[in-house]
Order: sequence, then structure tokens, then C-alpha cells
Amino acid sequence: MNILCIGDVVGHTGAEMVSCQLKYIKQDYDIDFVIANAENAATGNGITKENADLLLNAGVDVITMGNHTFSKKDIIKLFDEKYPIIRPLNMQRGTPGAGYIIKNCAGRRIAVINLIGRVYMQPSDCPFLAVKDCIGSIDADIIFVDFHAEATSEKKALGYFLDGSATCVFGTHTHVQTADECLLSKKTAYITDIGMTGPCNSVLGMKKDISIRKFVTMINERYEIAEGNCSLNGIVVSLNSDNLPVKINRINIK
Ligand SMILES: [Fe+2]
Ligand SMILES: [Fe+2]
Repeated sequence: MNILCIGDVVGHTGAEMVSCQLKYIKQDYDIDFVIANAENAATGNGITKENADLLLNAGVDVITMGNHTFSKKDIIKLFDEKYPIIRPLNMQRGTPGAGYIIKNCAGRRIAVINLIGRVYMQPSDCPFLAVKDCIGSIDADIIFVDFHAEATSEKKALGYFLDGSATCVFGTHTHVQTADECLLSKKTAYITDIGMTGPCNSVLGMKKDISIRKFVTMINERYEIAEGNCSLNGIVVSLNSDNLPVKINRINIK
């Protein structure tokens, strides 16, 4: 079985790229199941019903979110309507939505858990304790964890923390793909960040002129999504018949 994880989808152009390309990627890589982080699908922040429908109709099975989960209020309705969208598990108790989901695929139960980091991020509950409390009670053959976090150290630590109990721990949020994909010693597939799906000629998907000006002047202004060609970043994790990962490969499609 091959599972594709798609990095933070940025804007309608990023979502459109998934919509146009996913069919071919699935064929080329023999993909059985698709997870996409889409916390930036709606004009850079949050997700709308239109974005979610586009991604799900294209063949995405589960959508994960992050620090922009509630930037568009549509998501509350999508949670109510049982869309396969999850928000970080370690958000404050009582937050709408679920932190994990289990889906059936080719006779296997696949769990996807979403977590958010605490280093250089907004306050949240401890991702380590939250996932530890939850993972033992999940009845699934395969467990994928999207750790939406800024600090590479926090992400690496969580990878080792879950080695042997999760099938794959992949990072999102920085929008920059890292080259440290590996199989950890107890057979968890790991990568610090899978990257972004959005405009290439940009700073993390946003217009580079605005980003440069903000750094130079220190005056706040609104980001705008960049235009032009997109790239799709992600990983493909191959599992054997015992549901153990045997390969983790980065993809970067332009
Ligand atoms: Fe984020
Ligand atoms: Fe993001």
C-alpha cells in the first residue's frame, strides 16, 4: 500500500493544482490513500466548503489543519457535516472538531492524527502527552501523524517519541520541504516537513515583494497569495503486507 501526504495547500491555485494533478500522481505512484494539509487553502488562511469539496472530489481522503484551522468559519459547518477534516488534537478541550479520524481503505483501518507544536506557536496543550493518551486507544492498522509545528527540534523529538507506535510522523507548517526523510529504528517513517503545495515564486506561498518589505520596514501589512506556477510537495510512504513502512520518498512536482 502507498500513502501520499500532501504539504500545506496554499490558496485556490494550490487547491486547483491538487485537483488537476492528483489523478495522475495516483496513477504514477500507485497511491491508495491521500492525506492533505489544507490549513492555507482559503486565500492563505483556513479552508472553505468550496476548497474542501475541490480537494475531496479530486481524491483526497483526509484533510488535516493547523494554526489556521478556524480562520474561516465554514469549518464549523464542515465538522458538523462530518467532512473528513481534522484539527490538531491538542487544541484546548471543547474546541469543535476531532483531532483524529479513522478511515477504511483496502481492508485496512487507517488512522490520521493531527497535532500542533508549542515552540514559536500559539499556546496549546502538550502534543506529546495528548498523542500518548490517545494513540494506545486507537483501533487501527496504520497510524499517520501530521505534526504541524515550527521548530525542527520539537518535530524530531516527536518522531522519536512515537517511533514504533505510529506508522509515519510527518511535519507540516513551515512550507519548506526538509531532506531528512528516514525510517526510524522501530520502523516509523519520519520527515521533519513535507513542504507546500502552492506558488513556487513566492515566500511560503505569499507575494515575495510584500514579504521582503515587511522584513525591511518592520511595518505590518497584509500578505497576498503569489501568482504563477505551482509546485506540489509531499511524501509517498510504502507499506508492506504487515502495514510496516518500507520506504519514504519525497515528491516535488512542478
Ligand atoms: Fe501553519
Ligand atoms: Fe501552512
